Order: sequence, then C-alpha cells, then structure tokens
Amino acid sequence: MAVLVGLGLALRRPSEGPPEHLDRSNPPAPIDLTWPTQARPETGQVALGRTIYDRECASCHGANAEGQPNWTQALPDGSLPAPPHDASGHTWHHSDAELIRIILMGGTVYDPNSNMPAFAEKVTVEEAEAILAYIRTYWGPRERSYQAEQTRRWETIREQVMPTPTVVDP
Ligand code: HEC
Repeated sequence: MAVLVGLGLALRRPSEGPPEHLDRSNPPAPIDLTWPTQARPETGQVALGRTIYDRECASCHGANAEGQPNWTQALPDGSLPAPPHDASGHTWHHSDAELIRIILMGGTVYDPNSNMPAFAEKVTVEEAEAILAYIRTYWGPRERSYQAEQTRRWETIREQVMPTPTVVDP
C-alpha cells in the first residue's frame, strides 16, 4: 500500500502540489453530524422527482412510497389500493416505458378497474422520468438492476418492432 501511494506521489509533477485530499493547508469544513441522513444532497433530477412525487403521488402512494395498507387486497368496488413504489412493491418489475405510460395515461392501460389517475395534463415525460429517478432511491441493487434490465429489453424489442420512422419531406 505504502509503495502504491509512494508511486502515485512520485508520478505527480512537482508543480501540481499535493493532491487535494492530502492538502492539510486548507482543511475541509467539519461534517455537520446533526443533519438527518434523509437530507443527503440530491442531484437535480432526484430533487425534481421528489417535489413532483410529494405534490402529485404521495397522497395515495405514501410519503415514503410505502403504498396503502393491504394493497394486494381488492376493495369492495373491485379496484386495488395504491401499491408501494419501494422495494416491497412491484413498480421495479416494469420497464421505464411501461411505468411512464401508466403515469401519463393512467392505470386503465392495464386494468379497466384501476383507480390510478392519468397525469398527462399535469406531468411531462421529463418529470415522469424524474419521479422514477426519485422512486429508484427506495430500491436496492437487486431491484435497480432488474428494472434496468426490463428497460433495456423493452428498448431492444421496440427498436425491432417499431423502427424509428424515416421522415419524408412532402
Ligand atoms: C388517487 C390516488 C393515486 C394517485 C394520486 C396516484 N396513484 Fe398511482 N396508483 C394508484 C392506484 C390505486 C394504483 C393501483 C391500480 C391498479 O393496480 O389497479 C396505482 C398504480 C400505479 C402504478 C403501477 C404500479 C405497478 O407496480 O404496477 C404506478 C407506476 C403509479 N401508480 C405511479 C404513480 C405516480 C408516479 C403518481 C404521481 C404522479 C401516482 N401514481 C399518483 C393510485 C394513485
């Protein structure tokens, strides 16, 4: 280890000075340990997704994506309660394309009884993608990689079945 560090330093040109993390002349500010872990800084897309999720989705799917109680049991009217979007639900079983279609067009795209509203009037495709980026923060590596695989598979199938149309000038 010492050899590797020594080699790394030897390879740096002297004019560069010490690497930032070894530079003690300007120590970084101490970490504020009073911050709750939930308040980790988020990238722009996740922060946007959280804002829209809190505004449009949390009332049914839960403030922490936990869904409604007994979400697997049909209600008296035959509809299903709102499922969780965290790892305990099945949102991660579906590709991005399917999820964005459900968000924009509503749950009736797959179940005529569904009470999942259509958000096409309130949420853009980019915002729906941001909501998904936020929802993914509730998933572990297994759910993330499974859902990424579904998205890849769907993209491949779509390219084969529906090739990008060539625009012909009239
Ligand atoms: C009025 C309540 C309500 C609101 C608000 C709502 N949903 Fe839903 N959502 C539901 C219900 C109920 C279902 C389950 C419908 C079914 O399976 O028949 C559902 C299902 C879904 C599904 C399918 C999940 C799966 O695993 O198949 C997705 C994705 C979804 N909602 C995303 C969203 C997003 C994103 C928002 C906010 C933009 C949102 N929902 C807002 C009630 C709601």
